[in-house]
Amino acid sequence: MNKIRILGIETSCDETSVSVVEKSNNGKIKILSNIVRSQLDVHKDFGGVVPELAARAHSEIIDKICSFAMKKAKVKFHDLNAIAATAGPGLLGGLIVGTIFAKTLASALKVPFIAVNHLEGHALSVQLENQIAYPYLLLLVSGGHTEFTVVKKFNNYKRIGTTLDDALGEAFDKTARLLNLGYPGGPQIEKCALSGNPDKYQFPMPLIYEKNCDFSFSGLKSSVAQLVLNKKITKKFKCDVSASFQKTISEILIKKTQRALDIFNEMNKKKSTVNIVVAGGVAANKYLRSSLMTMEKTSNVKFFFPSLQLCTDNGAMIAYAGIERYEKNLFNKLNFKPKPRWPLDKKAVFMKGKR
Ligand code: KG4
Ligand code: ZN
Repeated sequence: MNKIRILGIETSCDETSVSVVEKSNNGKIKILSNIVRSQLDVHKDFGGVVPELAARAHSEIIDKICSFAMKKAKVKFHDLNAIAATAGPGLLGGLIVGTIFAKTLASALKVPFIAVNHLEGHALSVQLENQIAYPYLLLLVSGGHTEFTVVKKFNNYKRIGTTLDDALGEAFDKTARLLNLGYPGGPQIEKCALSGNPDKYQFPMPLIYEKNCDFSFSGLKSSVAQLVLNKKITKKFKCDVSASFQKTISEILIKKTQRALDIFNEMNKKKSTVNIVVAGGVAANKYLRSSLMTMEKTSNVKFFFPSLQLCTDNGAMIAYAGIERYEKNLFNKLNFKPKPRWPLDKKAVFMKGKR
């Protein structure tokens, strides 16, 4: 058989997703299916993800999502070369559901089980649609993580900057909650910002003058909280705050990406165009995408963004990371334990809160 077909399972947060991705012997990648079922209805009344409810919802639906994914892909279980699943970082209950499902399937089919780091899934997601040379600079912006990582090659990652407190998606979600915009906040803020004035409010830009590419977003959320305390929350107010918040974020991202680029160039002496990949849920934000792309006019960089459905959590990116691992015989034993905390760069120091 010339093709590799991997089933990828994603259950680390509030999306249950199963996908089949195929790699032909000429290297062509094809997403045969990518079924994503969001748990929005389960969590919306709580303004955030409730771990216990998330785990239950994954366990109730994972078998059906898997059947849909197999049907859509038009492949048989015996056509699969391996089963990959997110094994961390993420909410433990969901990780247990996804990995046990994957291990059971792998053992019944007598194919390898592959434990995938969710962040590796995001880091490589762009390769589902683009051929991109290593090394590249990754800006990963999701609900749980915000970091700059140099992707030197597959399985070789060097984190050069990270958030010291909230992740960027978390800052969007918390700000949206303060404005009663619903969950998840990112898409709501983006929509509301379209009819707001981005220059109406000034928000702080923590760490902006520090000569590194670390972030801090918790002060920004507190500043929105202060503003909300003294104002009537009208539609116009929500839109102006959303637009001003997004503008502040875009300025922070541009400044810090410039710093990350300097560090990247110091590490890689070759002076060619630097490929910058922006991945994770927040990379779906069109305003932030186009603001970042203005850097292409002033610096020797080229931006790559996964298409919108591949920015937020999905099984296809896990299946793709599974293909890369399968080709290098990087399999895992069936007693592999899910890891709620699992940095992509093994040497990276944990930076949030007390250190
Ligand atoms: O990557 P992801 O699906 O899950 C994690 O790995 O965390 O990211 C989810 C995060 C949420 O915080 C959500 O509000 C944010 O991504 N997000 C957005 C947008 N779409 C999703 N943030 C800003 N603008 C968007 N359009
Ligand atoms: Zn994610």
